[in-house]
Amino acid sequence: MAGHSSLIPMKSIKSGPLMGQADVPGDKSISHRSLILGALSVGETIIQGLLEGDDVIDTGRAMEAFGAELINHNYGTWSIHGVGVGGFAEPNSVINCGNSGTGARLIMGAMATSPITATFTGDVSLNKRPMDRVTEPLEMFGAHAYGRSNGQLPLTIVGAEEAVPIHYQVPMPSAQVKSAILLAGLNAPGQTVVIEKESTRDHTERMLIGFGAELISEYTDEGRVISLTGQPELRPQKINVPRDPSSAAFPICAALIVEGSDVLVPNIGLNPTRAGLFDTLRDMGANLTFENLREESGEPVADLRSKYSPDLKGIDIPPERAASMIDEYPILTVVASFAQGITRMHGVNELRVKESDRIEAMATGLRAAGVLVEDGEDWIHVHGLEGKVPGGSTATTYLDHRIAMSFLILGMGAKNGMSIDDGAPVATSFPIFEPLMERLGASIIRTDE
Ligand code: S3P
Repeated sequence: MAGHSSLIPMKSIKSGPLMGQADVPGDKSISHRSLILGALSVGETIIQGLLEGDDVIDTGRAMEAFGAELINHNYGTWSIHGVGVGGFAEPNSVINCGNSGTGARLIMGAMATSPITATFTGDVSLNKRPMDRVTEPLEMFGAHAYGRSNGQLPLTIVGAEEAVPIHYQVPMPSAQVKSAILLAGLNAPGQTVVIEKESTRDHTERMLIGFGAELISEYTDEGRVISLTGQPELRPQKINVPRDPSSAAFPICAALIVEGSDVLVPNIGLNPTRAGLFDTLRDMGANLTFENLREESGEPVADLRSKYSPDLKGIDIPPERAASMIDEYPILTVVASFAQGITRMHGVNELRVKESDRIEAMATGLRAAGVLVEDGEDWIHVHGLEGKVPGGSTATTYLDHRIAMSFLILGMGAKNGMSIDDGAPVATSFPIFEPLMERLGASIIRTDE
């Protein structure tokens, strides 16, 4: 939750076979959007399977600060009574988004076209991340952003008195920027148009249509062009949040590198804008199968079975696949360490501005674990050790949940296990990570206890 503080050092030890079923939590991206779109509808949106991680809870608290009512019915069911498009009240305290770039950027978009003022802050990691990528287009709508000279939080947004719709080409592959603009466009009269050169996750578009907005997207020579008609009346929904493919990646990859493993991860969202890791793993020779492919709430879903794969091969990952697996590069570099040959990842400069500089964090931790890694501004090459990763060192996690989980998984396959300086950030996206992995047979120790 916003402002968690004390470090939780952890260690994973080389594991025997991981076996059984891994019920991973709800999708983080869809959970944030469920709360925000619920708050922008008039009436009660019911959300089943909401991710109860710190990032999402912080977004829920923010929606309360803007006037929505949030109720936890327990067992993963929540409801949010929204105030409607243009109905946000002015918060009477600072909005603390904790560790969440998604929360901060989407909420800024959602409030920027209402005549209210809000100040945003976050933890040490979030306050280092670039926000000008969002505030620049929001200013085109008529909002004003006042913050630090380098476009970082804390910052204040004074929402537009009379918003005008915009036409904007997003300069980097970012679903958060695209979504902030679409959410701002909701309260601007007329057509807001966003163009993205490379397709990024499209949950905002799918969900806006589900909530009753008029939104069209088409592929042109410029890229994907998304047009939204402003000032709709959004209708409250009943949402079933699919399980998070980015969280599923951890038990799936663990099973690939731990001898004798066989793990079933049911009900995983396989939206093609998110599923690049699974294509990549199969290209590397992973024993990964999709069972029971189906569609739920407009999203493709399947049960994934992952088995120990001793013959993984290093490959060159096409840069055009980066957006569909952007959060999975940290765990992929771990799998690559266990493969045979070199895995080359290019076109991944966005990794430098995530919860941490993920190229730097993974390269440093992997080298300490005995893996040869080369890296540059927008690339990283991992030289695989054919299953024989020494480990036995301590990786720094830099307040980054995915770095923490990646090195704990590495330790499950490495000869000498692996330690991390701080596992506390895991709670932002995967609060049940430790018990879930332990039920499969892994051993994770909190080393300060
Ligand atoms: C997200 C978009 C991605 C991703 C993040 C979640 C979203 O960020 O890394 O974890 O929910 O829209 P960018 O938009 O910065 O690529």
